[in-house]
Amino acid sequence: MATSPRAAGAKIGEMIEIEQRLPTPTEYQHLRSAVGWNCPEVADCAAALARSIGGVCAVEDGRLVGMGRIVGDVFYSFIVDVVVHPGHQRTGVGSAIVRSLESVAAHANVTGKVGLVAAVDVVPFYAHLGYEETGSLFMSQNV
Ligand SMILES: CC(C)(COP(=O)(O)OP(=O)(O)OC[C@H]1O[C@@H](n2cnc3c(N)ncnc32)[C@H](O)[C@@H]1OP(=O)(O)O)[C@@H](O)C(=O)NCCC(=O)NCCS
Repeated sequence: MATSPRAAGAKIGEMIEIEQRLPTPTEYQHLRSAVGWNCPEVADCAAALARSIGGVCAVEDGRLVGMGRIVGDVFYSFIVDVVVHPGHQRTGVGSAIVRSLESVAAHANVTGKVGLVAAVDVVPFYAHLGYEETGSLFMSQNV
């Protein structure tokens, strides 16, 4: 489903469409690489995308310029992989993606909440959108 960028309340360019769909595995790889993230194998990307609750793509002239997805279940929804191509950052694309992801999450769980783990340098981006720190810390372990 494509929505008007204006409806998302952002300042993004008129040529950019916000679509509620997952990126293809290849699109996902390209966008991750564009921001310097690791680039998993295409089969692993396909498997990860297939297990998502839903996704959002920002598209300009048929080319993916931003993405994000939701993972979780009936009780938990987490926003992951929010990425905007460096050439389109700070133009409202990321904000429009997050707002659209929120509407995906609203239909996916029974709690009315969505969460995320923010890298320290992008906390201001999420704070700008109304996200608040919960006091929880992200912890991990090798398995
Ligand atoms: C983080 C990211 C998704 C933001 O996307 P974006 O399209 O540039 O964000 P927006 O233009 O919607 O920004 C809205 C506001 O958030 C804040 N903001 C955005 N990026 C910021 C940053 N890197 N540092 C501090 N504040 C930021 C600003 O207040 C900005 O408004 P302004 O441009 O008028 O000052 C993008 O920078 C990106 O893809 N980064 C690399 C991948 C990444 O770190 N993703 C987040 C994973 S947790």
